[in-house]
Amino acid sequence: MSLVLATTSGKGGTGKSTVSVSLALAFSKLNKKVLLMDMDEGLRSLDLFLSLDDRIVFDLSDVLKGADIEDAVYPVDKNENISLLPAPRSTGEIEPDAFKELLGRLVPLYDVVILDFPAGLDFYLYNVLPKDTQFITVCNPDPVSVRDAGIVCDLLPHTEKDPRLILNRFDIELIKNGTYKNIDDIIDASGLRLLGVVPNDSELMLLSVNHKLHPKKRAFKAATRIAKRLLGEKILLPKPKKI
Ligand SMILES: Nc1ncnc2c1ncn2[C@@H]1O[C@H](COP(=O)(O)OP(=O)(O)OP(=O)(O)O)[C@@H](O)[C@H]1O
Ligand SMILES: [Mg+2]
Repeated sequence: MSLVLATTSGKGGTGKSTVSVSLALAFSKLNKKVLLMDMDEGLRSLDLFLSLDDRIVFDLSDVLKGADIEDAVYPVDKNENISLLPAPRSTGEIEPDAFKELLGRLVPLYDVVILDFPAGLDFYLYNVLPKDTQFITVCNPDPVSVRDAGIVCDLLPHTEKDPRLILNRFDIELIKNGTYKNIDDIIDASGLRLLGVVPNDSELMLLSVNHKLHPKKRAFKAATRIAKRLLGEKILLPKPKKI
């Protein structure tokens, strides 16, 4: 059965798109066929992350108006396991019922579908997602981002899977010097179950420029741990200094 993941966050810029693309890279290496759906209407970014921006002609709004799905699903160069369905260039183009029907046709074609949503409390499409959608809230270690993650998850529609937290931009030095709380305290403050921790890392900062992650480096390893957990494997969190 396909895995449907939906990113969300209260605060903007917490790293949802970076994490979505990292997860797609990790799943693809695990031989999973992945569809990334950019749900950030008017402010799409995944085409840049995946170096597809020059090729986009059709997007999600065209499919909803009757274009062939194949015309708007773009395979990533040199990675046959990842494809992108880009977001519309303007807002208000996604009609919920038509979107639900499209998801019903698309999801069974992939092992993993990742819907990368914008930040905030505009949930107008969340109610038409499949009942087994796994919401993933991405936060940074700062207290505002952590509190907002908890608020968003309290408001999400109920699905069969409880929302999970990814703590992004983790930096052990900022915990050691007392700037931020430790991981356990962040989990407690959010009230959410942790799915994984992603390091603050220049390779991730440059993902939209370089379009790839080195498989032996910590960013890819963090994404792989999360991908495997989502596939049901029991993968322990490494010691904080190894994240
Ligand atoms: N783990 C990380 N380490 C370093 N930089 C990161 C990391 N995650 C994200 N960034 C940087 O943070 C910025 C925001 O990332 P991104 O666009 O993925 O956030 P977002 O949550 O999708 O934003 P939006 O809410 O606008 O959709 C980008 O400049 C990105 O390079
Ligand atoms: Mg984004």
